[in-house]
Amino acid sequence: MPYLKATKTPLVRRTPVGEYLCISYRFQFETFSPILEIDESTEKLFRLCDGTHTREDILQLLSKESGEPVEEIAEGFDEFVEYMIGEGVLEWVEEPSFIEPIYNRDRPFSITLDITSACNLHCPFCSVDAGAPRPDDLTIDDLVPLIEFVKKYRITPLSMTGGEPLLKKEMVLYILEELSPVKEITTGVFTNGTLITKDYAQQLYDAGLRFARVSVDGHCKEVHDATRGKGTFEKTIQGIKYLRELGVDVSVASTISRMNYEFLREIRDFVSQIGSSFSVGFVHPFGRAAEDHLLNNEEILRVTMINAGSERIQTNVSPRNRCCIGETLYINSRGDIFPCFLMQFPQFKVGNIRENDLRAIYKTSLVQEFLNLTVDTIEQCRDCDIRYFCGGSCRASAHEVGGSLYVPDSRRCEPLKALTQKILENGEENTRKLLHELLESTRKRGLL
Ligand SMILES: C[S@@+](CC[C@H](N)C(=O)[O-])C[C@H]1O[C@@H](n2cnc3c(N)ncnc32)[C@H](O)[C@@H]1O
Ligand code: SF4
Ligand code: SF4
Repeated sequence: MPYLKATKTPLVRRTPVGEYLCISYRFQFETFSPILEIDESTEKLFRLCDGTHTREDILQLLSKESGEPVEEIAEGFDEFVEYMIGEGVLEWVEEPSFIEPIYNRDRPFSITLDITSACNLHCPFCSVDAGAPRPDDLTIDDLVPLIEFVKKYRITPLSMTGGEPLLKKEMVLYILEELSPVKEITTGVFTNGTLITKDYAQQLYDAGLRFARVSVDGHCKEVHDATRGKGTFEKTIQGIKYLRELGVDVSVASTISRMNYEFLREIRDFVSQIGSSFSVGFVHPFGRAAEDHLLNNEEILRVTMINAGSERIQTNVSPRNRCCIGETLYINSRGDIFPCFLMQFPQFKVGNIRENDLRAIYKTSLVQEFLNLTVDTIEQCRDCDIRYFCGGSCRASAHEVGGSLYVPDSRRCEPLKALTQKILENGEENTRKLLHELLESTRKRGLL
């Protein structure tokens, strides 16, 4: 008798204008994709899909709970299960094997791990000021308890970054070999791609690598090499080819600074062709990034929009009331733990993996405060018409510009409002319709 099991632990995003079951998008730690709008009864049903209940068990439990006979609910249940299997969210397994069916916010949902502070390149804006390895960098022994924890709680995705993670071959292969047999966990590397030879790509693949994110900052060698260093363009593009030839899913990430902004469109067109997906982001004032690397508000708007399509904007429109602060932990190369990759401020350090238990950290008042942050806890966002589209944007950015977690993300307010207007005026039909509905629900809620 097969058991019904969630293929990954999803997260429920509870917003005042709807509740959504979300999963992480590929292995991009910062992005959640809503897969289904749910209500209380769907959530109850999903909670039973933990790999230890059969169809009959679940129907009996639901019938007991609702008072309705099994025959009355069976058809709706079967339809739901068929749909969710089609979406790749549920599966039947022959042997019982437990998975937490819905993320309880008592541990990280996903982890980004800097496995080294060292880098073979010296990008002028590097957010982690990577260079020579530091003596207190994590060792494999330091990582053993963390990897056991990730396996036990099926934390996914685990994204290895740095510095340049591929400098630490032994560590990368150890992590891949430990985690790749656990099918609910996605493990990937975020790399500059320059160290990937045919042989290294094969070793990574053999150890279980199926996802990589590779940085490409230019559409040609002159533009890319200007930020990454002479000769890097060719090596990176070759590295991407080696990975893709083996079947590794490569997402290409571009960082736009003052150095390459003028080629934004060319870069977007180029990177959208060379991997299976792409993302274009802008430089934040961290690490080595200096004032003259940063973009102004208008330029940030163009970067934000270029991801969504330059002609008729097509983007993900679903209610959002928070960013992923606290749900996506960031661990730096010294083992210090922060509530998000962009929250590397000393006052927000919540522990160190050499000293602290990750579950214990989730009981601290600081992590609880991060988890309770929503757009509705920000006084100046409460009346904003686009608050459930924006979700309060990025709390790290809000803090960095406004000095508090409880202020709007003022660097992005105007770009986001302009993006909203552009979608309403000339967005792709479905995007426009969804956004219109979302703003209407927000407006109605404001009138309650
Ligand atoms: C810190 S790097 C580490 C992984 C690898 N060395 C690489 O460059 O892809 C991860 C990503 O952060 C981007 N990045 C670096 N400095 C940044 C900054 N100041 N603001 C925003 N992104 C930045 C890089 O371009 C890269 O795409
Ligand atoms: S951005 Fe990546 S490649 Fe560039 S210096 Fe930093 S860690 Fe190295
Ligand atoms: S656009 Fe600005 S004010 Fe409006 S919800 Fe977003 S951060 Fe808050």
